[in-house]
Amino acid sequence: MLWKDQYELGVPVIDAQHKELFRRVDSFLQVLRSENSWDEKIPEINETLEFMKNYVVEHFRDEEEYQRSIDYPGYDAHKQLHADMVKYVLEVSRQYEQSNKNEELMQQFGGRLLAWLINHVAAEDQRIADYAKKKGVSGNAK
Ligand SMILES: [Fe+2]
Repeated sequence: MLWKDQYELGVPVIDAQHKELFRRVDSFLQVLRSENSWDEKIPEINETLEFMKNYVVEHFRDEEEYQRSIDYPGYDAHKQLHADMVKYVLEVSRQYEQSNKNEELMQQFGGRLLAWLINHVAAEDQRIADYAKKKGVSGNAK
């Protein structure tokens, strides 16, 4: 499992969503690395891609709502990071369809997705938790 407890923000809804994201990226990478032929992997790859497109948007919305609720000063910059990620996922998805489900593209996407997730949750999202702690607002605001 790629998730580490140190990634927790102390906000149950957000932590649960982060865990789910890690779980899905983890199984996505396992499918990518498996011995099966690409054609055999495609259904699961498609499923994960669809899930990501929806879940990431939903999760970002909830996390941004939490940031607003505690008047997080880095809100605008953070929101931009989320928007850039959504744009990237949609762009990859578009290229994937256009290239008739290119394997190379997805292998690259898997690596980038994991790197982004770890960096974002472990660094950027932790700043929200640090701010909440400093300000003395409850992590359970949501
Ligand atoms: Fe975030």
